[in-house]
Amino acid sequence: MTAIDDSTRHPDALRADMMRALRGLDAITSSCVAAAFAAVPRHLFAPDAPLDLAYDVHRTVPVKQDEHGLDISAMSAPHLQAVMLEQLGVESGMRVLEIGSGGVNAAYLQELVGSEGEVTTVDIDRDIIDRARRCLDEAGYPQVRTVVADGESGVPTGAPYDRIIVTAAAWDIPPSWISSLSAKGRLVVPLTVCGTTRTVAFDHDGEGGLVSRSYGLARFVPMQGDGAAEERKAMLREGIALQTDDVHVPLDARALNHALASSRLECWSGAAYDLPDELELYLTFHLSSAARLHAHQEVIDSGLVEPSARLGVPALVSEDSIAYRTRRGNEGTGGFESGVIAHGPHAEALADEYVALLRRWAAQHRRRGAATLRYLPGPTPSPLPQNAAVRPHGIVTAAWT
Ligand SMILES: C[S@@+](CC[C@H](N)C(=O)[O-])C[C@H]1O[C@@H](n2cnc3c(N)ncnc32)[C@H](O)[C@@H]1O
Repeated sequence: MTAIDDSTRHPDALRADMMRALRGLDAITSSCVAAAFAAVPRHLFAPDAPLDLAYDVHRTVPVKQDEHGLDISAMSAPHLQAVMLEQLGVESGMRVLEIGSGGVNAAYLQELVGSEGEVTTVDIDRDIIDRARRCLDEAGYPQVRTVVADGESGVPTGAPYDRIIVTAAAWDIPPSWISSLSAKGRLVVPLTVCGTTRTVAFDHDGEGGLVSRSYGLARFVPMQGDGAAEERKAMLREGIALQTDDVHVPLDARALNHALASSRLECWSGAAYDLPDELELYLTFHLSSAARLHAHQEVIDSGLVEPSARLGVPALVSEDSIAYRTRRGNEGTGGFESGVIAHGPHAEALADEYVALLRRWAAQHRRRGAATLRYLPGPTPSPLPQNAAVRPHGIVTAAWT
């Protein structure tokens, strides 16, 4: 049998395949988002990319890199764009602001709002806006308004917006986004807490803050400009790093490296381990001093750190000790059991706290979408509510009921 070379297939055929895949994955669930994806000639927004890449459901198309070769702009993958547009719930005639441009998502938004609606897309980078403008005109969307500005301040000239969609990873929600949302407005934002980004759909909570209606894991290029994240990172040794966005978490690289080199304590919870992203969200907001532990494959292969750290795992840290999650297969019954690896003089206390959380999550909250996130703007309240992440313009809280 001869393999079909996707890069030479007609864009319409590739788009039809993409649509089928997005429906199959439940990324597209509404007829209006389906119609938008069917209408927009996506490849015209990635003129230099192979056709099959432009229509690949899960892959991004790189657009611009910084001086270190890291992506600072990319055409997001269709799967993520579809999920976020479904979260956004755009209706015909709405006014929509997109923060972080590329062109194609603005074209989808224009299809969704129709001729009575208005779409504004803003990017901090003039090159990106010039490129987006060219692509939008070429693809037949001259009515989309393109603006060069730091999205931190919003785009006041088009406010109020019925919908705001942010397409760069944010770690805070600046006041301009909340104030320029209409009374029934919705904000969809990739919000990063302790190194993990989730697209969160927020509505007004009626008291000046925001309350989530849905969330899901995502990866995005970082926000630049005034809203760039203030993260702390510590290299414990070659191939092992800790990161946190909490100023109160002690990150003493020397002491924690010393702890890792000491013997390890292994504690098993007896509780089921699955839905890793939901468990991680719970741990991030409940651990008394949370950071994210990352380890390279070579370090994992050496046996020093468990494989759970390869993609990053919530860690509980003190000045001189560290604990993090692991798992093992259940004999006979299938599935996995969660457990904790701890090192350092306070290993036992950290492991006890961690294991108690693993058990509580499994017993009470082990399901998808169980958390409600809130954003409360303003000065940091005292005392700080439980399960809160402090940000310059407010706090993020999470609750499980
Ligand atoms: C993932 S790309 C956007 C993808 C795009 N929405 C699409 O249609 O595929 C993220 C963009 O956010 C932009 N960006 C980063 N920080 C920004 C800021 N503070 N204000 C506006 N744009 C920003 C970057 O320049 C980059 O082009």
